[in-house]
Amino acid sequence: MREGIQTGFDFPNLRKDGPRRPAVLSVGGGKGGIGKTLFTANLSICFAKAGLKVVLVDADLGGSNLHTALGVDLPALSMSDFVQRRVDSLEETIVDSGIDGLGLISGAQDFLGSANIKYTQKMRVLRTILKLDADLVVMDLGSGTSFNILDFFLTSDLNLVMMVPEPTSLENSYRFIKAAFYRLLRHREKSTAFRKVIDLAMEAHNEFGIRTPYDLIRHVAKMDPERGDTYQAWLLDFRPLLVVNQVRSKQDAELGPAVRTACRKYFGIDLDFVGHIDYDDEVWQAVRRRTVLVENLPDSNFSANVWKIAGEIAKRLREVDSPGTWKI
Ligand SMILES: Nc1ncnc2c1ncn2[C@@H]1O[C@H](COP(=O)(O)OP(=O)(O)OP(=O)(O)O)[C@@H](O)[C@H]1O
Ligand SMILES: [Mg+2]
Repeated sequence: MREGIQTGFDFPNLRKDGPRRPAVLSVGGGKGGIGKTLFTANLSICFAKAGLKVVLVDADLGGSNLHTALGVDLPALSMSDFVQRRVDSLEETIVDSGIDGLGLISGAQDFLGSANIKYTQKMRVLRTILKLDADLVVMDLGSGTSFNILDFFLTSDLNLVMMVPEPTSLENSYRFIKAAFYRLLRHREKSTAFRKVIDLAMEAHNEFGIRTPYDLIRHVAKMDPERGDTYQAWLLDFRPLLVVNQVRSKQDAELGPAVRTACRKYFGIDLDFVGHIDYDDEVWQAVRRRTVLVENLPDSNFSANVWKIAGEIAKRLREVDSPGTWKI
C-alpha cells in the first residue's frame, strides 16, 4: 500500500454499542453518468474493509448496474423478486459481492425498470431496508428528481449528492437539493393549505414567485409565523453531504466550498462538503477491464480519494444517534 493512503477507521457507536437498525447512506443527485455508481461501490468496499457489515442496494430502478461496478455478473435474484413477492424476505435477495462483509441487493430488472414502483411497494421496500441485518446500508440512486428517487434519498440518515465541475451538473445539483427539501416538507406537512403552497413552490414558474426555499419560508411565515419557524428549523436540519468528482484543476477543487457558500446564501441550506475525487484516466480504463479500484488497485489515486471521503463519512456516521430513524 502506498504510504499516506489512510485506510480503516473506528466505529464506536455502530459496532460496539450495536445499532438496533442499520445506518443508511444514499448517493444521488447532479446528472447522469458522472460516477455515482462507481463511487458508491468503492465507498462501500472501504466500509466493509473497515469491519462493518455492509449491504449495498442498487436503488437505481431504471438502470441498475451496480453489480458491474463490483465486477460481478447479473445476480439471479433482485429487488423485484421481493417486490413481486417471489421471495419472502429482502434478505434472500442479498448476493455475494466478492468482498468480505459486503452484500449486494441488485436493482430491479423487470417491471420496475420503468421506475414505476407503486407508493405502497416503495414504502414496503424502504421499511424492510431499515430492518436489514447490517451495520450500514448504502443505496445507489438513479439520476433525476422523481419522487421515488427523492424518497429513497430522504429515508437515509446521511444523504450524499455527487456532482462534477460542469455547469449542467451544478444546475442539476441545485435542482435536486431544492426538490429534495420540498419533498421533505411535503412529507412532514399535514395541512392541506400548506401542502398546496409547497406543491406550487415545486413548479418552476409558480404564481407566488417562489424560487428558493427561502422564498417559500417567507411566504409561509406570512401566512403563519410559527409554521415559518418550523420550516426554518427543518431547513437548518437538512444537510446533504457533497462530493465533487472528476476534478481536473485547482479551480475545480475549489468548487465544493464554492457550491456550499452559494447554497447557503441562496437556499439557506448548509451542505456538508466531504471531499473531491480527481479525474483520472486510470479510472475509466479500470472500469473497462472490470477492475474494482479500491479492491484491486488500492494504491491508485482514486482509491486514496475514496478512502479519505470514507473517513469523513465515518465521522458523520458516528454522530447518527438513532440509525435508521425516518426523516420523512
Ligand atoms: N474520477 C473519474 N475519473 C475518470 N473517469 C471517471 C471518474 N468517475 C467516473 N468516471 C467514468 O464515468 C463513468 C460513469 O460512471 P457511473 O456509471 O458510476 O455514473 P453514474 O453517475 O452512476 O451514472 P447513472 O446516472 O447513469 O447511474 C465510469 O464508468 C467511468 O468511466
Ligand atoms: Mg449509476
